[in-house]
Amino acid sequence: MTDKEKNEMVVTPWEVRGKVDYERLIREFGTQPLTKELLRKIEKRTGKLHLQLQRKLFFSHRDLDTVLDLYEKGIKFVLYTGRGPSGPVHIGHLVPWIFTKHLQEKFDTRLYFQMTDDEKFLVEDELKLKETVNFGYENALDLIALGFKPENTFIIFDAQDIDLLYDIALEVAKRITYSTAKATFGFQDSTNIGWIFWPAIQAVPCFIHAKLTGENVPALIPAAIDQDPYWRVTRDIAQKLGYYKPAQIHCRFLPGLGIGGKMSASEPETSIFVTDPPDVVKRKVWNAFTGGKGTAAEQRKTGAEPGICTIFQYFLYLFEEDDKKLSEREKQCMSGEVLCGDCKAELTERINRFLSEHCKKREKARNIVDKFHIKR
Ligand code: TYM
Repeated sequence: MTDKEKNEMVVTPWEVRGKVDYERLIREFGTQPLTKELLRKIEKRTGKLHLQLQRKLFFSHRDLDTVLDLYEKGIKFVLYTGRGPSGPVHIGHLVPWIFTKHLQEKFDTRLYFQMTDDEKFLVEDELKLKETVNFGYENALDLIALGFKPENTFIIFDAQDIDLLYDIALEVAKRITYSTAKATFGFQDSTNIGWIFWPAIQAVPCFIHAKLTGENVPALIPAAIDQDPYWRVTRDIAQKLGYYKPAQIHCRFLPGLGIGGKMSASEPETSIFVTDPPDVVKRKVWNAFTGGKGTAAEQRKTGAEPGICTIFQYFLYLFEEDDKKLSEREKQCMSGEVLCGDCKAELTERINRFLSEHCKKREKARNIVDKFHIKR
């Protein structure tokens, strides 16, 4: 791949690379920006806005306004999100899940969570079905560790639960042409036919609530914007099947520790996995790309650039809740008062503290994971 190709923005459900231009994605994907007016509407219902909304980490949507209006009229919605279990979860995956939990608490809704062990088997050449099924189980522990409750959280393990999904998947698949799927997902002649059918399966949980309860309500999907192509095709056929169009709220990508792109399991050295031991976290953070200068002396004199620094982004996304402290860190970085080594040491400590707690909770989750498995 040439340098030009490497820097070019690519955002698909299976690949994100280059510098992500979120304004351009809104235009090209045809989504709506999260306006101040819409944020005020959310705030009216939830009280103080969640940090991820305040900091504009969630930035775009489809039909969120419609879903909120229906909610005010007494028509609830269900939440739907998921995970493609191709390995351990990284801290980027936690970003939309943390926000989902907030929405679930504030709106008192059910969450359907799809574990796409089938997708990852079809898409990743080297993975066996047994492996993706096992990662699915392990990844479910990470979801549960965030504090979701079994009373209103329903995990669908695709390979095991396919009988529950199959009739709706067929209805969906029959209404999406190959030419639409090809244009949306970029399928090639070499794409295996399982993968070509597969998007119908990711559509199903948008509609599963009606099948399980007889109650036809819209689904709201919090996820990063890479998943949007699925919803474009699903929205096109939803009403033909007698359902609401699923709504979305899209977040930005937690960047990897290198230059450009997102944190991605396919680049393990620039990703922090929830299962990374403290010394590995330290090494990865220590090697991160920052906005620092060539020498400490130069940086003290001219300051650094938090705007391009991955370390700063981690404080912004997950590891500094206090706005004042965050803006102080930004100023001190720009003035050269704080050096990259200081921020790296502090971030390492915060990540390791978080992961140590998270791992205890994910171990406890082993005892209760069955309670979350969707029932027929
Ligand atoms: P997957 O496993 O690629 O990603 C799981 C969720 O994490 C989001 N995500 C990120 N968010 C912030 N920063 C990042 N660096 C980052 N990387 C990934 C993804 O957008 C996603 O929300 N096909 C899906 C599984 C799925 C799904 C869904 C996801 C099935 N149904 C409904 C969202 C909503 C997948 O492979 O996700």
